Amino acid sequence: MKSLSYLFLIALVVGMLSCMSDAPKQAKKPLNPNGDSELALLMREMFDNGMEIKKRIAQGEKLTLSFDPNHIFTAQATEPDKAASEAYRNFGESYIAAVEAYKNAEPENVSEAYEIMVNTCMNCHRSLCPGPTVRIAKLY
Ligand code: HEC
Repeated sequence: MKSLSYLFLIALVVGMLSCMSDAPKQAKKPLNPNGDSELALLMREMFDNGMEIKKRIAQGEKLTLSFDPNHIFTAQATEPDKAASEAYRNFGESYIAAVEAYKNAEPENVSEAYEIMVNTCMNCHRSLCPGPTVRIAKLY
């Protein structure tokens, strides 16, 4: 049990490092060494809201999003070059499409639409920002 909780701790720390672990060789310092960029704050809100949505789905309810997902394209990022990339835009648009599908989902499809939405979080993160994937996996 003890080693399990260590694993959990490590996962948590890695998650908190955000994308930093992904780009250790960057000469330029990130805008904010704590990772508290506008985008990081928005992402945290997205995660917290996701945990709440998951809980409500288990109770047969459909929660609305507590944030504007389009802000992923305008919020200032720790690594602005990354957020300005074409890959980021493509992954971001898949995410927005999944959000729309979730919003429009009929009650019997809410759970599936939610999972697809989490997949789009994962897809972007696996490619561009692997740090938080362990945390995001909790949304399933
Ligand atoms: C288009 C790509 C993309 C999508 C989609 C995306 N993320 Fe992120 N996420 C990022 C990037 C880039 C960062 C780093 C933000 C920064 O540090 O400025 C990040 C950071 C995070 C963080 C770490 C925040 C912190 O504390 O520093 C979490 C948690 C997170 N995302 C969760 C999610 C969840 C949950 C979703 C889906 C609801 C999601 N992300 C969708 C790219 C994405």
